[in-house]
Amino acid sequence: MNAVESSVNAAPVADWRNYPIHANLAGVHSASDRLSVTWSDGRISPFHHQWLRDNCACNQCVFSVTREQLFEIVDAPESLHPQRTRIDEHGHLLIDWQDGHHSSFHPGWLRAHAYDDASRAERFARQPQSRLWGAELSEQLPQFDYPSVMSDDSALLQWLLAVRDIGVTQLCDVPTTEDVLPALAKRISFIRESNFGVLFDVQSKADADSNAYTAFNLPLHTDLPTRELQPGLQFLHCLVNDATGGESVFVDGFAIAEALRQEAPELFRTLCETPVEFRNRSRTSDYHCLAPIIALDARGVVSEIRMSNFLRSAFDAPVEQMPALYSAYRRFIAMTREPRFRVQRRLNAGQLWCFDNRRAMHARTEFDPASGARHFKGCYIDRDELLSRIRVLQR
Ligand code: OGA
Ligand code: ZN
Ligand code: ZN
Repeated sequence: MNAVESSVNAAPVADWRNYPIHANLAGVHSASDRLSVTWSDGRISPFHHQWLRDNCACNQCVFSVTREQLFEIVDAPESLHPQRTRIDEHGHLLIDWQDGHHSSFHPGWLRAHAYDDASRAERFARQPQSRLWGAELSEQLPQFDYPSVMSDDSALLQWLLAVRDIGVTQLCDVPTTEDVLPALAKRISFIRESNFGVLFDVQSKADADSNAYTAFNLPLHTDLPTRELQPGLQFLHCLVNDATGGESVFVDGFAIAEALRQEAPELFRTLCETPVEFRNRSRTSDYHCLAPIIALDARGVVSEIRMSNFLRSAFDAPVEQMPALYSAYRRFIAMTREPRFRVQRRLNAGQLWCFDNRRAMHARTEFDPASGARHFKGCYIDRDELLSRIRVLQR
């Protein structure tokens, strides 16, 4: 088999996804450092020669087993040019390079990766957006049925999309046995262990190593803000809740941060820019993380909330900035107490919360341990595992 045949026969799409063809390649024009492709819907997408060579999916450039790249663009001359380009009978773009290499591009893949302004704007618009919520979520709580989620992949996907986009969900009809969380976690991926265990037991305990394991009111917080990477998903599974009190409360940390940005931009900025120390110490462990309460992504969108008053160290800031830090902190906490943001619900035996721990803050009202038993079981899964599972289910 000669080189031309081997590259034309090679799988033109090197990864595991499907690329439906929404437009066909209609023409190719050459410019000095790029090709300009015209699509059947009129869109024009430039592709630089380097970009095309870099993304050759032939089985010399990509290992067909792992579908990962072997070729490194620095090993081709910067001035590499196509010698000949054409669109073949399957609608693929074929390039014969000056150095004798051959590449074939699947039109669906090429369109999905085009970087002209319109294509990039389209991709940006398709990115999942968080749906911000307030107290009204109480009437529209995203509830899913545990047996369906366990047996049906489309029910699983609907639930996981709600976790991703809304950040608080409830599963109902859950058995009250201790093997539920490992089985449910397996539907997504695997549990993230912590010093509190693979699974943790939320119960009032005499030798509590966390305020969570008391009967006190637990103010709105994220779990493990003491870690560089806070756990993405938190599960709280109610085995028994016969005690008086002990209701669950949630707020959308992203909604509060966005409201703060609107209502008091300078306080918002303080919480984005001032590192705060969170720490958790016990006889056998000593965790610490220094990070701002509100994190923004590269686009300036709120991407993470880190907050737990009971795990917070003494503020450390320049003398003249301390009053501003307290103003911002007080305002943020005051907002978490405003009814417009709060959803309060009692979790009963056979129900389970699953929420985005880096977005939703959760709380529990005080309960009376003498009035009855209360036992929740919990675990964590990282956000990467959620997003990966969603993408695989969507293939
Ligand atoms: C926790 C927690 C809530 C509850 O354990 O971190 O927030 O309802 N528990 O007990
Ligand atoms: Zn190649
Ligand atoms: Zn908690």
